[in-house]
This record gives sequence, C-alpha cells and structure tokens, in this order.
Amino acid sequence: MQTQQQFESSLRKQGLDAQAAAALASRGLELRLIPTPASADDIPADPTISEAFPELVAVADWFRSLARGFLDAEPDEKNLPSRYGASVARRNLGVFDADTAQPQLPVGTFGSFVTELTVPGEAVVPAFAITAVSVAATHRRRGIARQLMEGELRAAVAAGLPVAVLTVSESSIYQRYGFAPSASAATWVIDRKRAGFSAPATEGRVDYISREQFRELAPVLHERIRLTSPGEIIPTPMHWDRFAGLLPGGKNTEAQRFVQYRDAAGDVQGLIVYSLREHATDYSKTGLDVSLLMTATDDAYAAMWRYLFEHDLIGDITLELRSVDEPVRWMLADQRAATVTVVDHQYVRILDVAAALQSRTYGSAGRIVFDVTDPLGLGGGRFALDVNDAGRGVVTRGVADEPDVKLSTVELSALFIGGTSAQTLVSAGRLSASGIDVVSLVDAMFRTPTEPRLSFWY
Ligand SMILES: CC(C)(COP(=O)(O)OP(=O)(O)OC[C@H]1O[C@@H](n2cnc3c(N)ncnc32)[C@H](O)[C@@H]1OP(=O)(O)O)[C@@H](O)C(=O)NCCC(=O)NCCS
Repeated sequence: MQTQQQFESSLRKQGLDAQAAAALASRGLELRLIPTPASADDIPADPTISEAFPELVAVADWFRSLARGFLDAEPDEKNLPSRYGASVARRNLGVFDADTAQPQLPVGTFGSFVTELTVPGEAVVPAFAITAVSVAATHRRRGIARQLMEGELRAAVAAGLPVAVLTVSESSIYQRYGFAPSASAATWVIDRKRAGFSAPATEGRVDYISREQFRELAPVLHERIRLTSPGEIIPTPMHWDRFAGLLPGGKNTEAQRFVQYRDAAGDVQGLIVYSLREHATDYSKTGLDVSLLMTATDDAYAAMWRYLFEHDLIGDITLELRSVDEPVRWMLADQRAATVTVVDHQYVRILDVAAALQSRTYGSAGRIVFDVTDPLGLGGGRFALDVNDAGRGVVTRGVADEPDVKLSTVELSALFIGGTSAQTLVSAGRLSASGIDVVSLVDAMFRTPTEPRLSFWY
C-alpha cells in the first residue's frame, strides 16, 4: 500500500482536473489550486499577509470566502496568517469569477487531505477526505459544486485512493455523487440525577490536566485506539488544536476543562474535554457539555462516566458524536434518563470496489456477486467477493456469474464499514437480492458487532 505522503505527492503532481477546469472555463470561471505548504518545514516562522508572501494572500482570500459560504462572521484578520500553517499538505481549490466586484475572492472553495479510514478488522483504507465545500451565495445552483466534486473524485481515482469521505452540513447533498451516510452520530443528553448510574469499580485515578497537556496526550491516545473503531479517520493537528481550544478565534474556550484517567500502572487510558453551561435560574442544574470522551479500556470508560456522574451541581450531561450503541446505557438504572438523537455523520464513497472490499475483514465466509452501478461512472461493474474462513476477502472484477445483489455505489458504501444492514436496504427498496439467504449472508459478512463511529467534524 502507498503511504499517505505518496498519495499526497501523486495528487500534487496531477494538478487540476482538465475536464472540470474546461467546464468551468466555458462559463467564464477559472479553476485554480490554492498554494498550501507541502510540510511543516515550509511554514515561515512569522507569516504576514503581504505582497511579499502571495501564497498567504491567496490562502487568506480563500478562507474569507469559505467563512462567507458557511455563514460565519468575517474572519479576524490577525488569525488569518495561522491558516497557512493549518493547511499543510491540503489540496485546496478555488473557482474565480473575474467579473465580480472582488475578483480575488473565490466564488467556490473545495479542500481535501489524505487520511486513513478505519474499516472492520482493525484495518485501514487510504481515503480522500473532502472538506470546505462552498459556493458563494451569488453563484449557487449553476453546477460549480458538481464540477468541483466530479473533478476532485477523478483526481482521487487517478491518485489511486480507494475511497472518499466527508461530513456534511446538509444530508441532501451528497448521495447524488455516490456517497453514503455510513456511520451515524448520536447526541446523548442524560438527566444526571434521574439516571441511577452504576459501573464496575476501577483501580486507576482521574486528574485535571491543562489544555497543553491534553494537546500532547490526545493524538497519542487516538492513534492507539482508532483501529478499534470503524468509521474513524486521523484528526489533523488543526482538529486537535480545535479540541484543545488552541485554534485562534475558537469560541467559548475559556469554559473548557480537561481531565485524564490513568490506570494502576500510570498509563493514560482516557481523556475528556468538557465545558459547563450556566442554568438561567438554578445553579444546581448547570449543564455539562462533553466535546470529547476518548477511552482505550473498559476501565477508563467506566471511570470517566463515574467522574461525569459524580460531578455535583450538574443537571444534564450532554455528549455529541457518540455511538448509537453507547455502553453507558447499561450503566443506567433508568434508561429513559437518556435522550438519544441520531444523525448521519461519516459519509463514505467507494471509488475502487476491489481495493475497498479487500481492505477489511468479514464476519463470515462466503461468495457474493455484486452488480454495482456508479452514478459518476468511476468504479461500477460486476464483482465477486470471495471470503475465506479467516474472514479475508478477494475481489474479482468482471465475473460472468449472475449477480446475487444489485446496488449502487451508495448502498455498497453504506454496507462497507458495517453500520448498515442489507435487510434494511432491501426493505427500503435500495438493494435487490436474488433471495433472502443472500441478504442474510451479506449481513453475516458485513455487519460489525459495534456501530461504526467518527468522533469529530472535518
Ligand atoms: C452546497 C453547495 C456547495 C452547492 O453548491 P452549488 O454550486 O450551488 O451546487 P450545484 O449547482 O453544483 O448543484 C449540484 C447538485 O446539488 C444540488 N444541490 C445544490 N445545493 C444543494 C443543497 N443545499 N441541498 C440539496 N441539494 C443541493 C443541486 O440541485 C444539484 O443537483 P443535480 O446536479 O443532481 O441536479 C452550496 O449550496 C453551499 O455553499 N452551501 C453552503 C455551504 C455548505 O453547506 N456546503 C456543504 C458543506 S458539506
């Protein structure tokens, strides 16, 4: 398998997708790559936005436009130089309209970075992570986003990346390009006083840490545990700065608290970031909002929840981006003390069926022949997946057998990381199978014991 750096350099060498550039040019628009540093060594010590540093001028304009697209306030000028450093190894594109009143600001933005998606079997597949998709409100519904998406997915295919991933502002946008909502995110709101929490005793200890200590510990802990959670990708340094409240312009960071759990041997096995929300009238109903709970062991999980429940003066405990199937449910005497709201979160799009399906392991042996239609014509066809008794799969393209299952890239991408049942897709009219035993076999092969999950937005 190629390394992350090899994929990045392959994307860099390719430059722009000629088809997308030509389609946009025919509408009077220019597609450009925005300069980003290839590595941390390329970031100047004290970058300033000036004519002497045109790269930073372009990056700042790209971020100004992005902030507008996402309904944010104008970015604070003093924070913009740090954006250059936060763009290391990113592939950022801008679409420019020379006739606007501010022609230096792109009317379309599209960013990406190379990462790894965790798949079942404590394995990973290289992934093209898409971010910062925006089109100026003055230029929407003219096909700009479609050109950007199609062009960049072609670039990812040409670089050999087997899947693309993204998180979404609106659920209605991405299935048309072959993306599936593949991992859900649950928001848990727990009435602390009603819950009747109990959990096994633990031998380690819980301590407050500084945000700087958290910033050092968090990537190390995530790296240790990410393979156990299908759906995760690798957070970039910018994501960790955001969790730690160290990103310039971060909101409500002064209210953050950081806590670690160390096991009896003294090793850090759990981290929490939370902030407290004042109640309008009752101090003893202060809200506790957890932005990150990360644990490597069952002990750490129990100890961190005990810490949250034993926190006096707290009414509701709220956690976002948690699993639908959170073990804490079974630590509550009154399960109705928890209100759980589920949304689609991690979107996955298979680009190379064989490479994707061969990257994971399966829960059962068997052979399934799939007919896959691809809405963008990037990777469809007929494929046989043969899984041996060890759970390893081999994919053969273009087999002559009749298909057992007919589906599009969307449904295959939903099945891929184990969070969607084939039976559900059949009932929804989204997948057709030659028989009920085939559907059961697909579920026995693809479904995972734990729900896939992604712990952050990107
Ligand atoms: C979403 C956004 C990027 C779309 O840009 P756009 O250039 O107007 O999109 P296009 O004209 O290329 O439309 C492409 C397709 O998406 C559809 N579409 C566009 N915006 C949509 C939306 N907000 N919801 C649902 N569908 C949408 C179009 O109808 C079109 O469908 P079709 O090609 O199947 O007929 C733009 O509306 C935007 O910047 N929104 C605010 C920021 C945002 O939410 N970005 C997405 C981040 S995940």
